[in-house]
This record gives sequence, C-alpha cells and structure tokens, in this order.
Amino acid sequence: MSVQMVFPSYIYRGRLDGAPALNRAFAREIEQLHDLDDHGRAWSEKHYVNGYSSYSSMANLHETSPNFGELRDRLEPHVRKFARALNWDLRGRRPRMTTCWANAMGEGTHHTLHLHPMSVISGVYYVNMPPGSSPFKIEDPRMGLLMAAPPRAATAPANEQPYLRIQPKPGEFILFESWMRHEVPPHRGKRPRLSVSFNYEL
Ligand code: NI
Repeated sequence: MSVQMVFPSYIYRGRLDGAPALNRAFAREIEQLHDLDDHGRAWSEKHYVNGYSSYSSMANLHETSPNFGELRDRLEPHVRKFARALNWDLRGRRPRMTTCWANAMGEGTHHTLHLHPMSVISGVYYVNMPPGSSPFKIEDPRMGLLMAAPPRAATAPANEQPYLRIQPKPGEFILFESWMRHEVPPHRGKRPRLSVSFNYEL
C-alpha cells in the first residue's frame, strides 16, 4: 500500500538583499503617496478602514516610481523560478507585472478573504511589520469541496491545516497563484503595517 500526495498547491517565499535601505525609501514614499492621493484616501476610508491603500487610485507604481520599479526588477527572476516550479507551459509568454500598489494598515485595518481575478501570479512584499502585525493567511483551495470531511487534527503539520498563517519579516515577499484565496486579519500594531502588493498577467 502507499499514501500518495496528489494535486499539491505551491507558494513561493523569498527575501531581498539590502532590504533596509529599500524599505526606508518605501516607507517615505508611501507616506508621500498617502498625503497627495485624495482619491485613494477617500476610497480607503470606505474600503480599508483606518488604513491607506493606493489600490483604486495608483496601481501602476512599478511604472511611475523608481523604488517600485526596482522592486519589480528584483522580483522578476523569482517569478520566473516560481513559474518553472509550477511546471507551467508558457509557450513563449512570460508573466509580466501589470499592477503594483502600496498598503498601510492602521490599528484594526483588515482585508477579508479574496482572490485576484484576471492575474496568474500575485504577491506581497513586506516593508514594515511592527509588533502586533497581522499574518498573511491563505486558505486551503479545496475548502469549498470538503463536504462531510472531518476537521483536521490540531497536531497536523502547518501546511496540512485548512489555513496557513505566515508572519513575514520586512524585506521578505510571498508569491502565490492568483486564484488562491487569502486574507489579512486585523492589524494589532500601534505603528502601520506597510506592504506592497502586485499582480502578474501573461
Ligand atoms: Ni490580495
């Protein structure tokens, strides 16, 4: 007999060298974006309570800002590696960053379970994760199919639980397939939790 693992799902985690300098530049720039982005602040008041996201107003920062452009360039080899690990047959195409935006979560700001339509790979780069920062939480993609399956034992390995919680450090990033549902629980820190999100299309 044998117990085989089938249909696995993968995420990719990495960290950038020299992140502290880049993160200082990002922190300054996110503050500037917040100050000048009237539309983004108004949108965030409704959809990202007590936080600021440029998602609705400036989601092409990789094309307009040198810091965000540098992030795109430095992530590119990792995205190619991830696509290879996923065994994708790209037929000459390559994943290209199409959207990139900044997020500053204040105390209590959260982002409910969602996925990123129209993209193939999505990800987050972490700029500042002060004490009390909420994790990145990803859902077992089979959740909607579980029917009468019993819950998994608390002693099961972390990657076999229904949710995986990752507590990233500044300078680290996570890539995942865009159809994987994920969320960010309420931020419990006094200082803002800063991150940069992005999507790739083919
Ligand atoms: Ni997301």
